[in-house]
Amino acid sequence: MGPLSDKTIVVGVCGGIAAYKAAELVRLLTAAEARVRVMMTRNAQEFITPLTLQTLSMNTVATDTFSLTQESEIGHIRLADTADAIVIAPASADVIGKAAHGLADDLVTTVLLAARCPIAFAPAMNVHMYEHPAVIENIARLQARGIRIVEPAAGALACGYEGRGRLPEPAFIVEELTQMLSRHDLEGERLLVTAGPTQEAIDPVRFVSNRSTGKMGFAIARAAWRRGASVRLVAGPSALPTPYGVERIEVVSAAELLGATARIFPWCSTLVMAAAVADFRPANRAAHKLKKNPKGMVLELTAIMDELPRLTAQKGDRVVIGFAAETEDLEANAADKLQRKMLDFIVANDVSRPDAGFAVDTNVVTIVAADGQRETTPRLSKDEVGDLILDRLMSLRAVRAKLGSRLASS
Ligand code: CTP
Repeated sequence: MGPLSDKTIVVGVCGGIAAYKAAELVRLLTAAEARVRVMMTRNAQEFITPLTLQTLSMNTVATDTFSLTQESEIGHIRLADTADAIVIAPASADVIGKAAHGLADDLVTTVLLAARCPIAFAPAMNVHMYEHPAVIENIARLQARGIRIVEPAAGALACGYEGRGRLPEPAFIVEELTQMLSRHDLEGERLLVTAGPTQEAIDPVRFVSNRSTGKMGFAIARAAWRRGASVRLVAGPSALPTPYGVERIEVVSAAELLGATARIFPWCSTLVMAAAVADFRPANRAAHKLKKNPKGMVLELTAIMDELPRLTAQKGDRVVIGFAAETEDLEANAADKLQRKMLDFIVANDVSRPDAGFAVDTNVVTIVAADGQRETTPRLSKDEVGDLILDRLMSLRAVRAKLGSRLASS
């Protein structure tokens, strides 16, 4: 089950060269298990055929107000009522203008007036049109009514111009819809998440590292953004794409990771230390590639200071969540790290299990909290574990708020 499973998304396609990208948007939405209903303006049909979108959405495509009037049902009202969200992509200057002024002279604009669900517009047009004061005003009107605008991207436009006006990547539009349909309980939270391994150089071509891929930390960052948080992700070397909406700070070594974390720490309201930070680094980094030696070699390692206790000592009302990667005595080791690092809770995983820990999409974790509570999850996807950790963060915030109001009233 993904966040869009069983949601009904109505995609409104307007006339414009970017209409062809609506096909990819519809494909991604159906792949995310959403029920997709497409409606098209007359001009949109000049750029892409209803048949294409019908095949990809696995539903008939609504092309004008009257063909939808079937039996006793009024089609445009039904489309508006059944939608969990509506996205207009691409949104032309014409439809933006009509919607801003409450006009309803075709199917798309009529559905928009009849809808009570969240609505997003993804404008795409020539840069001069996008920058025209009339369009700017119309977009501002839509925003003032709570309609989300997925900003167009900048780049080469089909009309030959360069500038803002390209339809954003369909995958980005899907992310915006996902956030729109998620609960926004983390609004106001500023999450600093660390993720991935670190690499400690031996020489210019070799390094010491670990098996972390960053999947767990990236999943937490993604889930937190979807739930309304501002998220900064300090990531060691990882092939994973940056989660949409998240600011990524790339680092390589433990020193860089800990330095970036300390620098951003004052900004955050919650630190999630999911990175697998190296505990040792080569005592000397050779300036040139080491030559092979038939006698072998001894690599001297020096310890890396754990900066987490120093950070938590100045945490104030921030929440600090640590991770523990263990291969034995999971709970005892986790409880010990919780105390040593002065964490609010620690998420421990047995990295020797094939279905948990490094490089897999699932995890089984034991969460040990500073108040003594413990829970072990069944096998879940890392996205689900990410959401669960954020649920525990919000429970802790709720307990603190209750304590705070009790103290204030006594
Ligand atoms: N951590 C850190 N700085 C380090 C090492 C670890 O901030 N130099 C953080 C990790 O990001 C994690 C927690 O401390 O949140 C526990 O990491 P882990 O590697 O499990 O534990 P260690 O403290 O390294 O202890 P040990 O190696 O004995 O298991």
